[in-house]
Amino acid sequence: MFFGALALLFVGAFVAADDTVYAPGTGNLASGWENWSWSSTLDFASTAGPGAVESISVNTTAWGALSTYAETAFDNNYAGLRFDISGAQPDVSIYFSTSSNSDVSPSLPLASMSNFVNESAWTTITLDFNNLPGNEGVLATDSCANGASYFITNIVLLDEIIVTPIFLSAEPLAGDVLAVTSQGDVDFSQISATLNGKDLTLNKTATFSPSDTPSQTISYFTLSSPLSSGSLLIIAGTNTTFNYTIPAPSYGTINIGNTKDISPSIYGVNFPTDADYIKLLGVTVSRWGGNAVTAYNTNGTFTNAGNDWYFENRIADPIADPFLQFVSEAGSKSLFTIPALDWVAKDNVSYSYSRTVYPDQEAYDPYNSDAGDGLLPNGSWVTPPPQSNAYTPWNTSMAAAMLTAMPIKPDIITVDNEIEIASNTHQDMHPDPMGYDEELARVIATAIMAKNTLPSVEVAAPSTCAWWYYWTSSIGYTDNAAHNNEDFLPWFLAQMNNASTQAGTRLLDYLDIHYYFAADTSANDADAKALRLRMTRSWWDPEYIDESYIGTSVPAQWSEPNPNAVVLIPRMQQLIEQYYPGTKLSVSEWSSTDDTDITGGLVTVDSLGIFGVNGLDQATYWSQPDQMGPIGLAYWLYRGNGTYFGDKSVQVNMADRNEDVLGVYASTSDGEKVTMVIVNKDVVPVNLAISNIPAGSYFLRHFGGDAGVAKWQTTIDIDANSNFVVPSYTAVFFQQQ
Ligand SMILES: *[C@@H]1O[C@H](CO)[C@@H](O)[C@H](O)[C@H]1NC(C)=O
Ligand SMILES: *[C@@H]1O[C@H](CO)[C@@H](O)[C@H](O)[C@H]1NC(C)=O
Ligand SMILES: *[C@@H]1O[C@H](CO)[C@@H](O)[C@H](O)[C@H]1NC(C)=O
Ligand SMILES: *[C@@H]1O[C@H](CO)[C@@H](O)[C@H](O)[C@H]1NC(C)=O
Ligand SMILES: *[C@@H]1O[C@H](CO)[C@@H](O)[C@H](O)[C@H]1NC(C)=O
Ligand SMILES: *[C@@H]1O[C@H](CO)[C@@H](O)[C@H](O)[C@H]1NC(C)=O
Ligand SMILES: *[C@@H]1O[C@H](CO)[C@@H](O)[C@H](O)[C@H]1NC(C)=O
Ligand SMILES: *[C@@H]1O[C@H](CO)[C@@H](O)[C@H](O)[C@H]1NC(C)=O
Ligand SMILES: *[C@@H]1O[C@H](CO)[C@@H](O)[C@H](O)[C@H]1NC(C)=O
Ligand SMILES: *[C@@H]1O[C@H](CO)[C@@H](O)[C@H](O)[C@H]1NC(C)=O
Ligand SMILES: *[C@@H]1O[C@H](CO)[C@@H](O)[C@H](O)[C@H]1NC(C)=O
Ligand SMILES: *[C@@H]1O[C@H](CO)[C@@H](O)[C@H](O)[C@H]1NC(C)=O
Repeated sequence: MFFGALALLFVGAFVAADDTVYAPGTGNLASGWENWSWSSTLDFASTAGPGAVESISVNTTAWGALSTYAETAFDNNYAGLRFDISGAQPDVSIYFSTSSNSDVSPSLPLASMSNFVNESAWTTITLDFNNLPGNEGVLATDSCANGASYFITNIVLLDEIIVTPIFLSAEPLAGDVLAVTSQGDVDFSQISATLNGKDLTLNKTATFSPSDTPSQTISYFTLSSPLSSGSLLIIAGTNTTFNYTIPAPSYGTINIGNTKDISPSIYGVNFPTDADYIKLLGVTVSRWGGNAVTAYNTNGTFTNAGNDWYFENRIADPIADPFLQFVSEAGSKSLFTIPALDWVAKDNVSYSYSRTVYPDQEAYDPYNSDAGDGLLPNGSWVTPPPQSNAYTPWNTSMAAAMLTAMPIKPDIITVDNEIEIASNTHQDMHPDPMGYDEELARVIATAIMAKNTLPSVEVAAPSTCAWWYYWTSSIGYTDNAAHNNEDFLPWFLAQMNNASTQAGTRLLDYLDIHYYFAADTSANDADAKALRLRMTRSWWDPEYIDESYIGTSVPAQWSEPNPNAVVLIPRMQQLIEQYYPGTKLSVSEWSSTDDTDITGGLVTVDSLGIFGVNGLDQATYWSQPDQMGPIGLAYWLYRGNGTYFGDKSVQVNMADRNEDVLGVYASTSDGEKVTMVIVNKDVVPVNLAISNIPAGSYFLRHFGGDAGVAKWQTTIDIDANSNFVVPSYTAVFFQQQ
């Protein structure tokens, strides 16, 4: 067990009772347990935690751990682990390993057990080994890299877990359904409900307990009368009342006669982990990209981390060929980055900025004290060494040889990654700022090479990192001035149009950009969450003034049509129409801004709906969302395990929809079955009266709500003209059967 990592090392033989690892009062680990910690400062007799309860005070540095080792072998029949912890939601994970062989359990982030760990009180965490929180053992990128400070006490391995029966939530859903989430052996006969003072009769229709979600069960009840506006009280036993005010209905209609194709390629992800992940989330496009592939050398599968990690060479992860193999086997399209600078990594060990040569750098790798970040303490770059220190030459002939040798060919290639900022991310390889002409030349050369080598491959470029560089280059506005004062992307499209004419073949199939919401939501408080949830309007809404520098700047460039509204998808489609018609639009990196908060999941649901309605051609989420976290659940909602949102977007008309807090998306397949996704981004329920929805049996999926981030699904009946109630912070998918 490693906390922060926090760890227990186990070896093989008996179990009969609870086994205490640490208890207050002794100033040490319990007898039979040894301290095997690393990179940590520990005090086993601290009384500095809440209430002066004796505890282990732990300060770990990056990748450090509180680790405890059992001297006596035992088998793993324990039911669970319980401990009390206090700290400012420390960034720690727990795992178990054996010392007899190298078996290691998945790492479980504390955040998957509780988000309320704080410095003023002890939070008791009980891990049920038969019902672990899901994260598939995938650590968040930054997990454990930050170090952590916390107090921990009363660490006990449990012989038996008795789950206290509790009704966790009971929420109105759809036309006449209550979704009740519970833990333990609750007595469902204790549940009753009234609507505007009138008693309702409840009929339990389904109970669902997915094996991969925390120890919760959801039960669905149908009500004797449909939900309607007013006061809904749900009484669960003597002590618990769930009280909802259902608002007056918002009216709308769907027009099944008015449809528009939804591109299947909008449901893409960067770096899915394996074929099962692709199938479970229904990932249609899988991108192999990012900063770390710019230096990919297929001979040796070497690459370089660039300024993400001290410009160090290493083995690529994932390696290109096996990645393309499982992507293709899982039926996903591949979007593959071709390096397009003049160098690639020469080995798996070299790095550019040795302390020996550059003794005065701002920072050095904590694991390789000789490798620096290339920056002087005042933030300026050092003069880089010859590229051949860490790199070997690269050109389009070598790229062609790589493509020819690949056992599985990519479907679409991109020309490098955010190449316009290479003088920053890859300062050692390309210290000079890249301008319009150089970038265009590199894109054209790579595109011609790719089309000659793989005639059916499609080309996506220029994979520009952000709004700023859509309109200028790293050289700056003097570069615009040198190009008739044209903004970069429109100029680029016109040039690619021209180059394609000259080449006699289309050299650019997708205008590919990266888009990261520019507003700052890092505080993650109520205001930041509301901002995160409404800024999806920047994908499409000409009325939405971006709540970031974009909305307030008086720019020298990007002045049309409105410099302060992003209107991303329509804006780019209009530029394409004007400068290179027929080019598709791709966003190969975008993010909800929070992969672990429920609001990030709701932003993703909303965005996937918006992509369909607005005719975006391709999108891949950055990056590798946890398949059971909020982002993974958003993909699952639309595409999970073989049940798909339709391929034609159906027009939804709602006069009074507040786009800040509500998304409603409808679709059909073959003009028959209707599917709807409703995402309630508000902190109160919504009540929708949407006409034209066919009556009948519907498959229903949802996640979010008061029960937290968990996924559930069932089948419900929908009457003609019935209202739909959706609880706060909930996304619902329902599909006509
Ligand atoms: C626990 O073990 C670590 C690693 O061996 C050591 O650095 C540390 O001093 C020990 N702490 C105590 C309180 O014994
Ligand atoms: C951990 O750090 C805190 C804050 O710097 C300090 O008060 C505490 O004494 C440290 N604990 C140990 C065991 O060093
Ligand atoms: C602090 O932790 C305690 C125990 O888990 C919890 O009851 C309390 O609500 C938490 N406080 C905050 C502000 O989250
Ligand atoms: C309760 O639900 C079940 C299964 O959905 C159904 O067969 C039964 O008729 C319902 N009972 C009442 C009283 O509506
Ligand atoms: C309800 O509250 C009473 C009094 O606080 C308590 O004794 C009882 O255990 C509670 N019952 C449940 C089911 O939580
Ligand atoms: C339910 O909430 C409403 C509005 O906040 C309040 O007026 C009412 O008293 C509550 N009812 C109960 C039984 O808690
Ligand atoms: C990889 O090896 C092949 C065959 O030896 C060679 O032609 C090619 O230039 C090498 N590529 C790089 C980047 O060194
Ligand atoms: C990495 O480089 C070292 C030193 O050249 C070499 O011994 C090792 O085999 C390389 N590892 C891989 C996976 O290529
Ligand atoms: C940083 O220091 C270097 C070396 O002294 C100097 O050349 C450079 O101009 C300085 N940069 C800034 C921004 O002051
Ligand atoms: C790439 O480099 C190799 C080795 O130097 C050379 O033979 C080849 O002509 C170069 N290709 C291009 C397109 O420059
Ligand atoms: C397209 O190419 C031709 C021939 O090189 C050139 O005369 C023309 O100016 C180019 N058009 C644009 C928009 O660059
Ligand atoms: C996916 O669907 C298959 C077939 O319906 C089912 O057996 C499997 O349990 C499902 N998996 C998940 C994770 O939902």
